[in-house]
Amino acid sequence: MLAIIGGTGLTQLANLKITHRQVMRTPYGEPSGPITFGTINQHEVMFIARHGYGHTIPPHEVNYRANLWALRDQGAQRVITATSVGGIRSDLTPGTLAVPDQIIDYTHGREFTYFDGKDSPVTHIDFTKPYSEKMRQQILTAVKLAGEVCIDGGVHAVAQGPRLETAAEVNRLERDGADMVGMTGMPEASLAKELGLLYGTIAVVVNYAAGRGSSRDAVALETLGAVMKPAMARVRNILEQVVEQDVD
Ligand code: HPA
Repeated sequence: MLAIIGGTGLTQLANLKITHRQVMRTPYGEPSGPITFGTINQHEVMFIARHGYGHTIPPHEVNYRANLWALRDQGAQRVITATSVGGIRSDLTPGTLAVPDQIIDYTHGREFTYFDGKDSPVTHIDFTKPYSEKMRQQILTAVKLAGEVCIDGGVHAVAQGPRLETAAEVNRLERDGADMVGMTGMPEASLAKELGLLYGTIAVVVNYAAGRGSSRDAVALETLGAVMKPAMARVRNILEQVVEQDVD
C-alpha cells in the first residue's frame, strides 16, 4: 500500500474518504499521530501528518523512526512525502515544486537508524540514490496528470532547524551543491531505506533561502503562509493523482 507523509501545510488530503484512524505504539515510541486510512477513487492510501495534526512537533522532535515503523507495520511498501524548502538555486523561486534526486544531510542529534547494533549485527545500507526512482517517476507522472509543472531532480540539503540558516550557511550549502534546503528530509529518507520502503518526495519552495532574492536581508516568515497555501493545494492535487496511479 501507499503511504503519504504530509509536511507543513498538508495535514489532510481533500478528497480522501476516511475509513478509519489507527493509534499506534512502536518499539521506538509514538508516531506523530494516528494513521489515517482511506481511499481516493477506490485507491487505498494511509496518511500521517509529520508535525502532528495540530502542527506542534518541530522538525528535530519528529519521531521519524516511529512514523515509518508504524506505516510499514500497517502494510505500507511505498512512501511519498511533501516537504517545504527554501530555494537556493536561482530557478527554485517561491511556489516552485521540485522532485529531488539527491540529499545532503546536515542534521545532528536525531534518532537516525534502526541498526544501532544493540541486539543485531552491524548493518549498512546502500544510500547512493536516496530516493526511489520508481517513486520519483510516479510523482513526475502525477505532476503531468494534474496539469502542473515541476523541476525534475535537485539536491535537497537537510538542516537541523528549527532556526533558518544564515546567509553564509546558505552560501556554503550552494558550494556543497545543494539546490534547496529543508529540515525534515533526514533521517526520514535513510530510515525508509533501512526498512526497505520505496521513498520519494515532492518539495515545495516556500521562500528564497536566507540571503537570496527577497530573503536578502531576512526571510519574511509572515509571508510564507501566502505562498504555502496555494502551493499545498497544488501538491494535494498531485498527491491525489499519485494515489490513483499507485499499483501494488
Ligand atoms: N530553510 C530550511 N528549511 C526550510 C526553509 C528554509 O529556508 N524554508 C522552508 N523550510
